[in-house]
This record gives sequence, structure tokens and C-alpha cells, in this order.
Amino acid sequence: MTVATTKQELKEKLIEWRQQDHHVALVPTMGNLHAGHLSLVELARESAEKVVISIFVNPTQFGKDEDFDEYPRNLKLDIQRLKESTADLIFAPNVETMYPLGLENATSILVPKITENFCGASRPGHFDGVTSVVARLFTLVQPDAAIFGQKDYQQQLAIRHMSLDLNLPIKIITGKTMREDDGLAMSSRNQYLSDDERVNAPMLYEVLSDTAERLQSGCRDYKEQESRSIKVLSDAGFSVEYFSIRRAQNLKAPDRDCDELVVLVAVKLGNARLIDNVVVTI
Ligand code: PAJ
Repeated sequence: MTVATTKQELKEKLIEWRQQDHHVALVPTMGNLHAGHLSLVELARESAEKVVISIFVNPTQFGKDEDFDEYPRNLKLDIQRLKESTADLIFAPNVETMYPLGLENATSILVPKITENFCGASRPGHFDGVTSVVARLFTLVQPDAAIFGQKDYQQQLAIRHMSLDLNLPIKIITGKTMREDDGLAMSSRNQYLSDDERVNAPMLYEVLSDTAERLQSGCRDYKEQESRSIKVLSDAGFSVEYFSIRRAQNLKAPDRDCDELVVLVAVKLGNARLIDNVVVTI
């Protein structure tokens, strides 16, 4: 497995692979890898002979008061974990490599509408940072496929939108959410939870699953289900940012006949901001 930190090192490997007619799949990450990230690496291998995983904590997707400085970074451990995976190359660039003209001169790619609500509303500019850095990674790696997690539902929709709209010749693949045994979605931010909060946290998925079950069994009063779930979570000590039932395809408000729904949630629990979702096909 190769570790490339410069464009040149990356390019050399890519040229070698292209000469051998290999396809390339990219898994973008911010590191501090867990089994969720590794599942995307495995999935990537199903669609290409060579897998690149990028590790870059992208400054442009963090708000001023967010956790960019504290965000857990552990490249040595990440490399160790990836040695046992199907990744062929780790691309771990620095900020200068990713933003050669400097952050203040950075070109931004903005996906409208689908990024306005939910995480886009509570984290202004976040998705502009995400789509901009992913576009940069796409340009550098020129992958045939790129893999994103369903865990960040709105993110993968925004990236699909960007790829479609810019005619990028890249297949976007969404990998399912990996969970701890108690149902909590794996996340780098789970380590911000105190012991008590960690015990409480799986309730998030319980409430999502409960809502999904009600939808499956024919309940169509979306508003009532949202308020009910918000109350259950608030009573249990979660500070609910949003809990919403939407059309899975575009996050618009669903009508009663909609058969592909997504239930989206974001909460604060102590210092941790947790997001999760379930897709319901009726
Ligand atoms: P990061 O939070 O490191 O996540 C990298 C990828 O792993 C994303 O596609 C995310 O959806 C996926 N992922 C996270 N938790 C997961 C889980 N429990 N199961 C399966 N997949 C999971 O998302 C980002 O980084 C960044 O915004 C990025 C796309 C790299 C752009 O900077």
C-alpha cells in the first residue's frame, strides 16, 4: 500500500494503474477511521481494481465555532488500520496541496436547494466546503467511482447533484451505515460523548427505527410522528436540531403517496453533534 502526500506521488501511481487499464475508486474521508469508513473501502473494491482513500481534514467545511482544531487526527493509526484493508493508496495531502492558491482564494462549488435545510441550515457554508473539496479530490484522482456513506445522507445527495450537474464521469455509490452493536451509528464524533451520554446515545436509532416501523405499517401523519419523536428525544436529554420525514430522492416534503422516504435526525448530546437517518421504502 502506497502513502502519497503530494500530487506528484499520487499522479505517478495513477499513471501506472491507467497504463494497466485498471479502474480506480475513491473513498474520501477525514481520517480517524472506524469500521464504517473501512466498509466503504471494501465496497469500493467491488467496482474497481484499485482503491484510493483520501484522508484530509478539510478546513472549508467547518464553521468558525466548530471542531476543526479538536477534530481527531491520527494518520499513523489510520495507515495501520488500512494495511489490513483492500486500499491500494492513501492520499493524505496538506492544505497547500488541496488549496494551492490559499484558502482565501479558493474556488467554491455551491450546490443549491438540497443543501439549504437540515445540516445546511445549522452549519452555514458546510456543504459548499464539502462539495468544493470533493470536486478537488475528483480532479486530482479522476476516479471511475466514488463511495460515500448513507450516514451523511444530505452530503451524498449534494455530491450526486454536483456530479450530475457538472457531467462528471464518476459513478457515485452510497454505502450503508455501519453501527455499533447497540445501534449507534459509527462516527468520529462519538468519542466526544461522556460515558453516560454514550449509554443514552443508541436511543437515537431506536426512535428512528420506531418511526420507520410506523411508516411501514401505513401511518402517514408525518407531522404527528415528527413531533412525537422530538418529544421522546427531548425528554431523554437530547437537544434536537431537526427530526424530519422527507422524500428520499430530494429531501422535499412528501405527500401521502410517497413510497421512498428518509427519516433524518440531528441532535446535540453534551458536546457531540450526532446525525443519523433511515430510508423507508413502502
Ligand atoms: P468523514 O466524516 O470522515 O466520512 C467519510 C465517509 O465515511 C463519508 O462518506 C461518510 O458518510 C462515511 N461514513 C461515516 N460514518 C459512517 C458509518 N457509520 N458507516 C458507513 N459510512 C460512514 O464525510 C466526510 O468525512 C467529509 O465530509 C468528506 C466527504 C471526506 C469531505 O471532506
